[in-house]
Amino acid sequence: MTKIIKDIDLAVKEIHEGNVIGLPTETVYGLGANALNENAVIKIYETKDRPKFNPVIVHVRDVADFEKYAIDIPDEVYKLADKFSPGPVTFVLKKNNIIQDIVTAGNDSVGLRIPSHNIFREVLKETGLPIAAPSANKAGKISPTSADDVLSELRGKINYILDGGKCEIGIESTIISFLNGDVNILRHGFITKEDIEKVTGKVTDDKTGKILSPGLLKVHYAPKTPLYRVNNFDEVKDIKDKKIGYLDFSKYADYKEIAVHLFSDLRDLDRQKLDFIVYKKVENKGIGIAINDRLERARTMNNEQ
Ligand code: TXA
Ligand code: MG
Repeated sequence: MTKIIKDIDLAVKEIHEGNVIGLPTETVYGLGANALNENAVIKIYETKDRPKFNPVIVHVRDVADFEKYAIDIPDEVYKLADKFSPGPVTFVLKKNNIIQDIVTAGNDSVGLRIPSHNIFREVLKETGLPIAAPSANKAGKISPTSADDVLSELRGKINYILDGGKCEIGIESTIISFLNGDVNILRHGFITKEDIEKVTGKVTDDKTGKILSPGLLKVHYAPKTPLYRVNNFDEVKDIKDKKIGYLDFSKYADYKEIAVHLFSDLRDLDRQKLDFIVYKKVENKGIGIAINDRLERARTMNNEQ
């Protein structure tokens, strides 16, 4: 039986025992375990049905911890962390040998993130451990943004989900790689390319697909209901024999608000037994880039099926 709990001590105990647990972060819920315990990390992969070639992010309390797990850390990392951490940004750095292959899928780099969610930070403090945590969804599915979402993804597969309310940001962290002297965005997120450029100067945008990141897995964030992109909702208004869901962002004030509701709205529509869902892409700038990216992946999966 999977239980939603508020008891941080129980969550800490579960992690110390080498189990995996649903944990709240400001971006999306994570499926966390002791990053230094190989068997515990293996359980993360098994619980999510995650392919073993897809590395997991390690969450730590502060920048000083980066030096415990990474080497050759460039100055830009400290500058960016100073501005955006704790928060929705992940730094891909050269790993040291404390970090085991299971965490990095055999790569010689590790993704490090300092989450800002108070409850997650409390768990980091009380366990005294780095916590490996991918998003707490089944592989290829929509990331969860509430404890109930995690329950619907992983019911019966984990003992506990620590409830931290609805995620404030709603989409996953921006992932930046610093390997080979570059500042390279592997996954767009709430911290935008412009935000990063203001701190570091020009950054590159990895679209080549050479580096393994979630951006490479086309099958990601997919609802069960087919999702289609339209230029205008009028395009489907004459279809009378189908139940159509509208993922309509016009009710939201700005991209931040769209991001907060993106996955939960998609989940709500997905539960309604519709024939298909339609959406209009947003303008491809700022957080809009991350929003379009998540939608494009969700849509592509369905078009391929
Ligand atoms: O906001 C987030 O990042 C959330 C919360 C829970 O922290 N986590 C998250 O994890 O989205 P996940 O596993 O669903 O997506 C992180 C992605 C992985 O798919 C992986 O491809 C990429 O980060 N990643 C992790 N370590 C990496 C590395 N060393 N090199 C390149 N990509 C890496
Ligand atoms: Mg994920």
